Amino acid sequence: MSDNRPVGFFDSGIGGTCILKAFQALCPNERTIYLADTEHCPYGNRPADEIVRLSEANVKKLLAQDCKMIVVACNTATAAAIDYLRASYPRIPFIGLEPAVKPAALQSKTGVVAVLATAGTFNGRLYNETKARFAKDVTVIAAVADEFVTLVESLGRGEVSLTDDSARRIVEEKIRPLVASGADHLVLGCTHFPHLKPLIEEIAGPAVTVLDPSPAVAAQARRVLEARGLLADVV
Ligand code: DGL
Repeated sequence: MSDNRPVGFFDSGIGGTCILKAFQALCPNERTIYLADTEHCPYGNRPADEIVRLSEANVKKLLAQDCKMIVVACNTATAAAIDYLRASYPRIPFIGLEPAVKPAALQSKTGVVAVLATAGTFNGRLYNETKARFAKDVTVIAAVADEFVTLVESLGRGEVSLTDDSARRIVEEKIRPLVASGADHLVLGCTHFPHLKPLIEEIAGPAVTVLDPSPAVAAQARRVLEARGLLADVV
C-alpha cells in the first residue's frame, strides 16, 4: 500500500522547518507542504482558544491541498490544539511536539534541567503531565524565550546573522543564567530554537547537552505513515 499525497507541516513562522528538514532527510520520497503563519507570529502569548482557531485555519488550508498527514511543527500549537484537531479530524493522523523533559530528566547528572519554550507550551497539559510523571526528582527551570522566536524570524528574513554580536548577546543573556543554575540539559521546547543550536551549544559549553527534538519527531512521523500504509512509493 502507498500514498503519494503530500505531508503538511505548519508553525507560526519558520521555526518548524527544522522538523521539515529532518523529515525530508528521513523520507526523501515524500512530498511536503510547509505553511508558515507569519501573519500571526508569534503564537507564544496568545490565549489557547485563539491558537486553536489559528491552528484549525492552518489545517484547513493544508487539507485543501490534499495532505494525508499533518505535522503540527510547533510546541505552542500542539499544547493548545492537538486534542481538538485529533477529535475534529479523526481520519487525519496528526503528529505533535512536546518538550523533551523525560530524556533530560533521566539523563541529568546535576539534577537540574532547563526547558526553553513559550508561555503557551508551559501552560499546556502535555508539558505539565510529562513533567509531573518523569521529572519529579529533578529541578526543572522553565525559561520563556520569546526573544529567540523574534531573533529566528529576523534571521529568516536576512536582517541579522548568527555571527552578529546582537544575536550572541540575546542568546547569552538567556543561556548563561541557566547554566549558572547548574542545568546540564537544555531542552529546546520550541521549534524556533534549534535554529540557534550552534550558538546555544557554544555559549553553554561542552558540559551541557542541548536537546533538539527534530530527529525524533521526524522518526515518529515516518513510523505513523508506515503503520497506516501511507508511505509514498515515488518521488
Ligand atoms: N515555533 C513555535 C513553538 O514551537 C511557536 C513560537 C511562537 O510563535 O511563539 O512553540
